[in-house]
Amino acid sequence: LSGFERDPETQQARLGSVNLSALLAANPRRTPAYVYDLDGIEAGARALVESLRPRDLVAYALKANSAGSIVRRIARAGCGADVVSGGELELALGAGIPARKIVMSGVAKSDGEIDLALARGIRALQVESLEELARSIARASAAGKVARVSVRINPGVEVDTHAHIATGHAAAKFGVAAAEWPRVAALLASTQAAKLVGISAHVGSSLKTTEPYLASARVVCDVCKDWQKRGLAPEFLDFGGGFGIDYGAGNISAQPRDFARAALELLASQGLDALELVVEPGRSLVGPFGVLVAAVIQSKLTDSGRWLMLDAGMNDLIRPALYGARHRIEPLARLPDEPSWRVVGPICESTDDFGMHDLGPSAPDYVVIRDAGAYGFTLASEYNGRALPAEVFLSAGKVESISASPGVAAWVERRLRA
Ligand SMILES: Cc1ncc(COP(=O)(O)O)c(C=O)c1O
Repeated sequence: LSGFERDPETQQARLGSVNLSALLAANPRRTPAYVYDLDGIEAGARALVESLRPRDLVAYALKANSAGSIVRRIARAGCGADVVSGGELELALGAGIPARKIVMSGVAKSDGEIDLALARGIRALQVESLEELARSIARASAAGKVARVSVRINPGVEVDTHAHIATGHAAAKFGVAAAEWPRVAALLASTQAAKLVGISAHVGSSLKTTEPYLASARVVCDVCKDWQKRGLAPEFLDFGGGFGIDYGAGNISAQPRDFARAALELLASQGLDALELVVEPGRSLVGPFGVLVAAVIQSKLTDSGRWLMLDAGMNDLIRPALYGARHRIEPLARLPDEPSWRVVGPICESTDDFGMHDLGPSAPDYVVIRDAGAYGFTLASEYNGRALPAEVFLSAGKVESISASPGVAAWVERRLRA
């Protein structure tokens, strides 16, 4: 259950105790490849489940990584899922997550997705607007069903994170705005076709401390107490995900279990601990347990410095281009060392740039991009006619399975047919 580490003698990179150089030697021409430590993922998920009460739910945000091998392990650890599309819902069910452990978020669920959620009997449709609530009621009435609804409120909380992953402030598109809360409550109190089962919020991703999480959760508790007075009886409160991970800057002071503990303490202090707690972590369950291994195509020396060109680019890992994220990049077979190199991918975009990294006096053959288990493969594309990366799943110190890249020929054929 070791995650990423280095052999103390040879300094070679290992993941889940598998030597990554040896892995590559056995699987030539397999880069770029995501490699995941399934045992680490399962152990982390189980630890979070065990830090909550038996009736609470860790609803894994499947968007972070939807590989079946990973979702099955997370299901085995006792987690449910937070899904944001009909496709993710079917994937969660197919990976063995029971419908009653699945919540469905999303600001623009199609009628078909609402119908699917109703048909599958999931724990809650998390409605994000008065209009969506009305539509869910209409779809449920037409199907002769009662929609189990959780209202995702917009708590109006500012978060110290990148603007593109802050979701809980008043100007965000997510959640029901405060001005609408009374109308939402009135509609829920007046219909037979929907039952309020939960109140939820998700304030943003990569939270460094529990404070913004708790600020949002307090608003959820206030709304809950107000709605209870209006005769509504939610079963659960869902404080969302967003637990940050340490990408190497050392600026994360709260671990997933700290968020869990703080959430339970808040429920108790608000007199709401009879309700179930739902949390929706994505990144923290998978991010640290995945790496992206890339081959060095070539280096280039210019007046502005040393460049290193990889076979992995923003099409494989878009977080640096999309959010200015920084991932540690290290040589596969030796420790990071000066001087610094500017590491870039092969894509014809200036933002295909992973930043400056200490890679040593000579160009390495392979590098490892760390903490790439979340929002890596799920955001990958075939831009520039590049194949999706391979994925390698490790368990018990060996390769459990490989999901091969579909290859460039498949891309050519499909685009020719388009
Ligand atoms: C509604 C919702 N819940 C949970 C998450 C998971 O966030 P994280 O991966 O930061 O834990 C997201 C991420 O965007 C989200 O939109």
